[in-house]
Amino acid sequence: MTDSSDTVAAVDPQALQEEALAAIAAASSLDELDEARVRYLGRRSALKLALREVRDRETGMALNAAREAIEQAVATRQHELERAELDRAIAEERVDVTLPGTPHPRGRLHLVTQVRREVEDIFLGMGYEVVDGREVETTRYLFDALNMPPNHPTRSPLHTFYVGEDTVLRSETSPSQIHTMEAKPPPVYMVSLGRCYRRDTADATHYPIFHQVEGLAVDRGITLADLKGTLRALLRQLFGAEREARFVTHFFPFTEPSVEVLVSCFQCDGDGCPMCRHSGWIEIGGSGMVDPNVLRFVGYDPEEVSGFAFGWGLERIAILRHGLPDIRDLWANDLRFLRQF
Ligand code: DAH
Repeated sequence: MTDSSDTVAAVDPQALQEEALAAIAAASSLDELDEARVRYLGRRSALKLALREVRDRETGMALNAAREAIEQAVATRQHELERAELDRAIAEERVDVTLPGTPHPRGRLHLVTQVRREVEDIFLGMGYEVVDGREVETTRYLFDALNMPPNHPTRSPLHTFYVGEDTVLRSETSPSQIHTMEAKPPPVYMVSLGRCYRRDTADATHYPIFHQVEGLAVDRGITLADLKGTLRALLRQLFGAEREARFVTHFFPFTEPSVEVLVSCFQCDGDGCPMCRHSGWIEIGGSGMVDPNVLRFVGYDPEEVSGFAFGWGLERIAILRHGLPDIRDLWANDLRFLRQF
């Protein structure tokens, strides 16, 4: 066993203080400083043990002086290290809130996409489903199923893009009617919107790529009155509640009777202006009662069910609504134009 007087005698306050101050000065982080503090001032440090054993006043004073000096050194060093850490953080983690931020330019939907979604919403609201079509079709779906005879002019490669002998880029969205009816029995209430392709030379009112909305309702007892009511509702939602619709006979191979739809001119309200070519009416698109041959083609019984269909151009809707002078503007990707919508 060690004699307690030996322990006291073994501690040289002066030497201990020097050693401690050197260690404290050498501490380069708060953790290292804390280690030094525990080593020289902790409950089981040589200094604390010696103080506990102290017998005479002189040794006590010397040890206490050393303790105070060491405590003082720890406090000073701690302050220095904290200050250095703060300086580093200020220098390295500086955020200049006056610098301009990284810009995140806000995009927008193309005008035709906006019209497309709007039309989809209108029909979803009437209980229709939105179905996808195919941009690459076979002549069977684009022509045969739609009651077009072999000599029909749009079958010509001068009008329609042929990818292969029987494979074409669709020139209208109407084949989506056939795919939908082939896939399920009646009733059918659907719209299908998408791109179409025609060998048209681009000018102010034509572009070889364009979009259509196709609509089809087949059920028991569908009549021309349903066609008129539905399309009138569509017109009013697109062009305003005061608009009138006019239905004029026409011809399409896949409808009988076929009907062209006109809307009362929203520029002049029917008085006559350049927009409606002074007729008071603007042509919107085709429609009609589904031809019994088309129903038979997909295995529906025309004695049981009847239907109406329509196909309108989305660019045409956009052009009419905004009074656009040239359809090509929609394809030129000029943001100065597109950002306006
Ligand atoms: N497919 C016709 C076209 O592109 C538009 C059309 C007319 C579609 C009458 C129809 C319809 O569904 O019933 O000119």
